[in-house]
Amino acid sequence: MTLIDGKGTAAAIRAELAVRAAAFEQKSGKKAGLAVVLIGNNPASQIYVRNKIKACEEAGLRSFAHYLPADVSQEEALALICKLAADGDVHGILVQLPLPRGLDAAALLAAIPAEKDVDGFSAENIGKLAKNEGGTVACTPLGVMELLHRYRIPTAGRHAVVVGRSNIVGKPMAMLLLNADATVTVCHSKTVGLKEICKEADILIAAVGKPKFITADMVKEGAVVIDVGTSRDEEGKLCGDVDFEAVSGVASYLTPVPGGVGPMTIAMLLKNTVAAAERTLK
Ligand code: GUN
Repeated sequence: MTLIDGKGTAAAIRAELAVRAAAFEQKSGKKAGLAVVLIGNNPASQIYVRNKIKACEEAGLRSFAHYLPADVSQEEALALICKLAADGDVHGILVQLPLPRGLDAAALLAAIPAEKDVDGFSAENIGKLAKNEGGTVACTPLGVMELLHRYRIPTAGRHAVVVGRSNIVGKPMAMLLLNADATVTVCHSKTVGLKEICKEADILIAAVGKPKFITADMVKEGAVVIDVGTSRDEEGKLCGDVDFEAVSGVASYLTPVPGGVGPMTIAMLLKNTVAAAERTLK
């Protein structure tokens, strides 16, 4: 079994992006800028946002962090996003999800112009992905594709099974794999015969959010298994969707948690931001 090193791969990508970010700064006279909006005090979101800001700065990007209280009004949050949308120093805008209850997330995200939508959540970018016409793609599924690519794992003609149908991971993941010529099955909580379907996968993507959900008896001998899970156990330790110990005896490639897909998500956010900045030069 080959362990897929997301941490190392992400570090290599971040180094490549630092070069592109420096070239952008040289040409434009300003740094590529990412605005991160965190509303409320979800502890997991606070960690993610801190990591995103740190990664920006390490790669020579500029970050603009905006922290709003959980009881902020829709109008105030919207006003901030509109201000960032009009700010020439901001090339990418990210509103960390989930949002506190009472806010209309769809309406807030709709205020982010597609060209600054570095999360790839906008209707325009999702439409482009669905039509295989480029556009900005959500960071986590993009990071998975990058891992498959860098580990030279072919997708054409292979059966990819995606477990999970979220807008952030499952759906864009399925579309990316389809665009890469895989035969794609999407499973979810109402799927009948989940175990049998998973066992047919050449490439199994677990994006469920339940620790050790994918057991060894659900994995075909030699399958590629990508774990997108980011749950926390009772002690607050990060754990994936895959029973790592057991599945490592069956899979040909496997991503660990932590150190697998997670670091790639941040690297892809930087990539989308640098790309958004570069587009402003054209
Ligand atoms: N919450 C969990 N994952 C993500 C992500 O990729 N982007 C945003 N904005 N929020 C998230």
